[in-house]
Amino acid sequence: MAFELPKLNYAHDALEPHIDAKTMEIHHGKHHAGYTSKLNAAIEGTDLEGKSIEEILQNLDLSNGAVRNNGGGFYNHRLFWEVMSPDGGGNPSGDLAKAIDDAFGSFDKFKEKFSNAAATQFGSGWAWLCVHQGGSLEVCSTPNQDNPIMPNVGCAGTPILGIDVWEHAYYLNYQNKRPDYIEAFFNVINWDKVSELYKANK
Ligand SMILES: [Fe+2]
Repeated sequence: MAFELPKLNYAHDALEPHIDAKTMEIHHGKHHAGYTSKLNAAIEGTDLEGKSIEEILQNLDLSNGAVRNNGGGFYNHRLFWEVMSPDGGGNPSGDLAKAIDDAFGSFDKFKEKFSNAAATQFGSGWAWLCVHQGGSLEVCSTPNQDNPIMPNVGCAGTPILGIDVWEHAYYLNYQNKRPDYIEAFFNVINWDKVSELYKANK
């Protein structure tokens, strides 16, 4: 069974004004679709065919560039769409809010650390909030389409929130102002989904 481009749970223009419709249309319909089809081409006829994306990435040979880039791109964007919502923003609550306070001191300190990781990731990449077994949290970033479930990428745990800082994610609306895009992202974070992922992976 080949991987399929996941459907968005909202319209392309639903995240405006924070993320514009044209960016969403191209990002999902072209970029994510491209990673998905190239991933399928890269695993076709190999022993990776039929495995889950998590299984593929957790056991990845980092020298396999086609699977690293396109498998990472498939997984990362799937998470990205899920952790955003037109009804998003605000603050997390419950167990996740407590875990954030425990790890970073406060929500504001977490926001500062996550935003800084996203702003200072040189070139293309992602910033992450990851949960480790036991429930502790970590903020980190990875270049290109790497992600924390890949082995030895300098960042570990299961990502429960991620922000895409490739220029394709923000350039049409924000040009070179990546920090403005990061600030706007906080208005669309789907904390209910992040909490659900926290509970499922802690
Ligand atoms: Fe992207």
